Amino acid sequence: MNWFTKTFSSTIGRKIIMSVTGLFLCSFLVVHLVGNLQLFNADNGESFNVYSHFMATNPVIRVMEIVLVLGFLFHIYDAFVLTRRNKTARPVDYAEQHPQENSTWSSRNMGLLGTIILVFLIIHLWNFFVPARFGGLEGVVIDEVDYDNLYLRVVQSFQIWWYVAIYVISMVALAYHLIHGFQSAFQSLGLTHKKYTPFIKTFGYAFSVIVCLGFAIIPLYFFFFA
Ligand code: HEM
Repeated sequence: MNWFTKTFSSTIGRKIIMSVTGLFLCSFLVVHLVGNLQLFNADNGESFNVYSHFMATNPVIRVMEIVLVLGFLFHIYDAFVLTRRNKTARPVDYAEQHPQENSTWSSRNMGLLGTIILVFLIIHLWNFFVPARFGGLEGVVIDEVDYDNLYLRVVQSFQIWWYVAIYVISMVALAYHLIHGFQSAFQSLGLTHKKYTPFIKTFGYAFSVIVCLGFAIIPLYFFFFA
């Protein structure tokens, strides 16, 4: 095994990969949320459909999509390996340990939260991404050009109460996952400092709540007001 493989399959190496991919996925969330805000433009979905078409056809975005998939895969795989290593290292919890007093609920349930997000992602991609890339959407003409009507798919999906419920519940799970993950990433990267760590924690908290609220408002808006 060369030093590269050795370093990145060690526990600390895997934690570094999880942190870097996690922070990268956070940046994706911001871009995705800002793009989705076009759903609120009062133009019958025109700007959203044109934007989605650009995202689906632009070569730079297509390359970034591969990086994104790799980011997700590494993040999930390393989470799985690290959880298994932790369990093998300490198969039985110490009886006199009081985890509730020494750690937060989200830090103890990152695996569960991550699994909820993974299930959400599969449902989400199946409904939006797969038809957008492989066909199955109605067409719409905007300025004499044919587009896929992804906006219509969004409106129709968010008329279904249980679909909206899946989104809202998943965004609560995502918020808790990010609240712990954000600050934990900085810690794993060794970026801790008496002066800056409290700021990172507050920023991470605000980031998680704002981003997840932003995503949750979309299905709620379409269910109640569209
Ligand atoms: C209500 C909130 C959301 C809406 C309305 C929404 C909408 C969409 C749509 C329409 C697509 C297909 C875009 C295309 O292929 O051109 C998409 C793709 C995607 N979404 Fe979402 N999304 C939401 C929340 C989320 C969240 C919270 C995550 C991650 C946890 C996420 C992850 C993804 C990924 C990974 C893709 C595929 C990559 C891409 O096309 O950019 N989405 N989303």
